[in-house]
Amino acid sequence: MGALGCLDELRARARAPLAGARSLPGRLYWDPDLYELEVRHIFRTEWMAVARQDQLREPGDWIAVDLVGEPLVIVRGDDGRLRALSRVCPHRSMDVLALRGGDGGSSSRFQCPYHLWSFRTDGSCIGATDMQQSAIFDREEVRLGSFALEEWNGFVFVNLAVDPPPLAPRLAPAEAAMNHIDVSDWQCVRTLDYGELPVNWKVVIENGVECYHHMGAHRATLEPLFPHAAIDVTLGKDDTWVGGYMLVSPAESAGPQSNGMPTQRLILPEAPGMSPILRASSLIVGVFPMFFFALSPDFMIWFRWFPTGPESHHVDIQLLVPRSTAANTEHEDAFDLIAGFLRVVQDEDVATNLAVQRMARSRFAGGGPLSHLEYPVWRFHQYLARMLDARTAS
Ligand code: FES
Ligand SMILES: [Fe+2]
Repeated sequence: MGALGCLDELRARARAPLAGARSLPGRLYWDPDLYELEVRHIFRTEWMAVARQDQLREPGDWIAVDLVGEPLVIVRGDDGRLRALSRVCPHRSMDVLALRGGDGGSSSRFQCPYHLWSFRTDGSCIGATDMQQSAIFDREEVRLGSFALEEWNGFVFVNLAVDPPPLAPRLAPAEAAMNHIDVSDWQCVRTLDYGELPVNWKVVIENGVECYHHMGAHRATLEPLFPHAAIDVTLGKDDTWVGGYMLVSPAESAGPQSNGMPTQRLILPEAPGMSPILRASSLIVGVFPMFFFALSPDFMIWFRWFPTGPESHHVDIQLLVPRSTAANTEHEDAFDLIAGFLRVVQDEDVATNLAVQRMARSRFAGGGPLSHLEYPVWRFHQYLARMLDARTAS
């Protein structure tokens, strides 16, 4: 069965009702041809979250990201605007940031290390030496390429398509689930960087969006806090996003609210705007393909995921808190405590995902029936089928 054969199976899986839903064939998690289709029809058409605004506060602040074959630099220009520029030099395609070292910095211009053409932070060319005899060199026309960039709630999204649809409608349901809490000026106080892991991106998403596995992979960590059976992950009613409130166990709560819902124990000051359901739970949101976060009453966790190949992805995790919480040095120990717990939980997910990936080439991989608690996985399969379907037929 080649890539197209497994697409037929994907279509059949996606058409099944939830009660008849099955896991996907193993080949979908390693086939390089399928990955090429995903890059073309998903990752080069969809919005991807690549940074937070607080990583790019001042003019000249930049971070480098390699997104499915496009080397990017996300940079705040002298005019204060964020841009997603290509790092491919328009002379002979050197990476203009090749010799900088590190994934971020601050710079008033980018000078290509190969023949020293230099560019402003808006991508325009400042100058190029010894080009006066070229009849076609035009400094006004030579510039770094650029991609669509939009901001939502402090998250910086990039879209590699030429004229993508606006981002905001895709995130409107998530915004409503968040009770329209504005997290745009929340700040990152801890980062867990796992780098590149040898796991297909879909294994990661399927693991991230369901809580059925709390009782297995997280039996000593998340299950006592957020018992899997009480978690409703059916907030998303279509195949564009999934979400759910991870309700805290009454036994682990700080007592009931006036409406009877349990209250999550706070480690940090409660953020403004929390509704009773947000106080009682941690909201998980996944907007396909790979935007995923968890919002608790006092902090937020953002999983910065993107694929790096058919059998690999990048992951780093940011702990975000309101600006006032970030500014108070008394909370440093609490930040460490949350990050430490997060590390333990994430290690459990990483170990699980690595083991699932190792099984993917077996002839027995895939096909098992899904639980109703895996509703988000079923929705994800519908998303995949839709994105890969119409386009592969043409
Ligand atoms: S490749 Fe960049 S200046 Fe020549
Ligand atoms: Fe997990």
